[in-house]
Amino acid sequence: MIEVRGLTKRFGDVLAVDDLSFDVEPGKVTGFLGPNGAGKSTTMRMMLGLDRPTAGRALVNGRSFATLAEPLREVGALLDPGSLHPGRTGRSHLRVAARANGIPQRRVDEVIEQVGLGSAARRRIKGYSLGMRQRLGIAAALLGDPRVLLFDEPINGLDLDGVRWIRGLLRSLADEGRTVLVSSHLMSEMEQTADRLVVIGRGRLIADATTGEILRGLGHRQVRVRTSQPDELLARLGEHGLTAQRLDGHELQVEGGTAEDVGELANAFSIPLHHLSEVQQSLEAAYLELTGDSVEFHGGVRQPVHTTEAAL
Ligand SMILES: Nc1ncnc2c1ncn2[C@@H]1O[C@H](COP(=O)(O)OP(=O)(O)OP(=O)(O)O)[C@@H](O)[C@H]1O
Ligand SMILES: [Mg+2]
Repeated sequence: MIEVRGLTKRFGDVLAVDDLSFDVEPGKVTGFLGPNGAGKSTTMRMMLGLDRPTAGRALVNGRSFATLAEPLREVGALLDPGSLHPGRTGRSHLRVAARANGIPQRRVDEVIEQVGLGSAARRRIKGYSLGMRQRLGIAAALLGDPRVLLFDEPINGLDLDGVRWIRGLLRSLADEGRTVLVSSHLMSEMEQTADRLVVIGRGRLIADATTGEILRGLGHRQVRVRTSQPDELLARLGEHGLTAQRLDGHELQVEGGTAEDVGELANAFSIPLHHLSEVQQSLEAAYLELTGDSVEFHGGVRQPVHTTEAAL
């Protein structure tokens, strides 16, 4: 369990994390989403005691990281896979970490096995591919068999196999009852991985809900309905506070309610329905809608080229 309360971090003029409060519950994969510079890494660093909050607190299992007796046994983290000693082998890297934290050496071979590093564990890290580095970083996070795990952008730069592997690993860790927080700016990935989403932009909380709730567009869901009596249904929907527009002869698009609302209403007035469905907004679209105002670094937008008769 992680509890974040009023967490704030200021770097000079930059308010990197702005009064964040949310919980990360055990047994679930929680996606931590936000555009570049949103404050995801800074928040995770504060959870791990690597950055000191300007205000507020982040508690792991009810305590601040600094007061945990055996931190590596309570919380494991994958932050920056670049910060590995290139001359060491993967295995010796893990052995050093285990020794420094009073973790039995047999765990080293267990986690090497668990992340599928295999014989590569005996090669030097400088020859590792990005995917191998990522696996080694995850092995280090798992070393103390912690109940709480933080992964900062673990799928960055991985190929499809690597992405699938991480997805499965996160799921199995959560199924074991662990608390799993995984950051990403990739909606499409989180859509398939996370049970809950905490969405931030410019350091502030934008949404904290199940992935399903966010997918349904946080109240922006749309219902499509086809009926032989579109005028009648249009009028009844309007009377009941739902906005609807006509798409073609017999099809309506409804906003402000669920498929159940529309179906019950039609039934109450004996209006026959030929089709009824909820249109799922993709998480990508929901996310852009949520974070649209908070994207700090927009890509340059090319001006459209106009050709006019005068120019020809
Ligand atoms: N040590 C630091 N000194 C000054 N500013 C910092 C420092 N660390 C982060 N920042 C600033 O804080 C803000 C949040 O950065 P952070 O790295 O937490 O974002 P992020 O959500 O992890 O982004 P990304 O998706 O790019 O990893 C940014 O504006 C960043 O420039
Ligand atoms: Mg980051």
